[in-house]
Amino acid sequence: MAITPDALGGASWTVWGGTLSFKVKIRQELEAHPDGIGVEMGGTILEAALTAGIAYPHGCQSGNCGACKSELLSGDVQMSPYSEHALSKAEADQGLILVCRSVPWSDCEVAWLEPDDLAVHPTRQMDCRVVELADATHDIKRMRLAIDSGGPFSFSAGQYASITFPSLPPRDYSMASRPDEDLLEFHIRLVPGGAVTPFVTDRLKVGDHVRVAGPIGTCFLREAHRGPIIAMGGGSGLAPIKSIVETALDKGLPQDIHLYFGARTERDVYLEDHFQALAARHANLSFEVVLSEPDGPTARRTGFLHEALAADYADLDGAKVYLAGPPVMVESAVAAAEALGVRRQDCHADAFYTEEDKARMEATA
Ligand SMILES: Cc1cc2nc3c(=O)[nH]c(=O)nc-3n(C[C@H](O)[C@H](O)[C@H](O)COP(=O)(O)OP(=O)(O)OC[C@H]3O[C@@H](n4cnc5c(N)ncnc54)[C@H](O)[C@@H]3O)c2cc1C
Ligand code: FES
Repeated sequence: MAITPDALGGASWTVWGGTLSFKVKIRQELEAHPDGIGVEMGGTILEAALTAGIAYPHGCQSGNCGACKSELLSGDVQMSPYSEHALSKAEADQGLILVCRSVPWSDCEVAWLEPDDLAVHPTRQMDCRVVELADATHDIKRMRLAIDSGGPFSFSAGQYASITFPSLPPRDYSMASRPDEDLLEFHIRLVPGGAVTPFVTDRLKVGDHVRVAGPIGTCFLREAHRGPIIAMGGGSGLAPIKSIVETALDKGLPQDIHLYFGARTERDVYLEDHFQALAARHANLSFEVVLSEPDGPTARRTGFLHEALAADYADLDGAKVYLAGPPVMVESAVAAAEALGVRRQDCHADAFYTEEDKARMEATA
């Protein structure tokens, strides 16, 4: 029996065995519990899972260790207080939860993080110095930083950091370098009217000091996966994709890697020689530029990245897709990948939301 939303302040409750509860599906337990488990009103997902005999990974059961960190795939939960050490704000913003602190507020689906899904690196606050600054395109700067203090910095390929230029608000930028390289590389695209990027374009110079905090993010290379890799970067979204692809090649991952770079026009294309040279050296790497707004006749492929994906593949079951760039590109490419059979947990995406995007999302939330 389900009680209507009106009867309970908008929430849709189900009565299981005489007790009000929500249904929670656990991705790793769908075979044993296809309909999910019932979580009683006010109870946590972890308590209910353990009661149901599920070996849900956990430790302290009090929000302090992070061992129960999980993806919230759908639905709403309310979390009681927990330590920032167990779940950072950035992780919470990306939809991760601690199931030992999570009380469902609707039917939900969750998945615990697999070992390959865990990027465990100490959080660093580093003083860095600009050692190289070059125009990658008319509106993208390629910046390399040396770490002066606060390191060493370990991260997983594809993660990002919060960068603070002197007297400016912090902004997120993805590492384009491999984790084993000494210098940190970033690709920063000018956003007209922005608080930070006009400074990078017009005033930043070699020798300037910047603060870098991180690493952050769940869109990183899963090194244990052996299925094909589709890597798609739009604009400066090429940065984390570069790190992912170069790391995969450097580590000798054997599977096919299909790299697509989406740019608007010819003048937005960069690092083409670099990736062509990599593809010539590695038989498992293919590389293609796709122009969405060519400004004249072109021999290149044209269209959007999601169209290229749909045209090139009939079935991507078992593949992993890594995506980064403008939110609209990321959203349409994720939808195209899912339509081709890529499981949601195999889509790893960083949409480069700006303050404007965030304000719009908050206004519509
Ligand atoms: C996970 C992640 C990784 C990223 N990685 C990269 C990267 O590698 N490279 C890269 O180039 N970018 C990246 N970005 C984007 C980057 O963080 C900045 O958002 C971007 O550089 C713009 O910064 P800005 O300060 O110049 O612009 P902002 O000050 O953020 O302004 C952006 C636009 O919004 C408008 N605006 C500002 N505040 C508001 C408001 N309150 N309401 C409405 N409009 C507003 C501005 O006029 C401007 O047009 C990433 C973003 C995320 C979330
Ligand atoms: S079990 Fe330790 S944070 Fe959840």
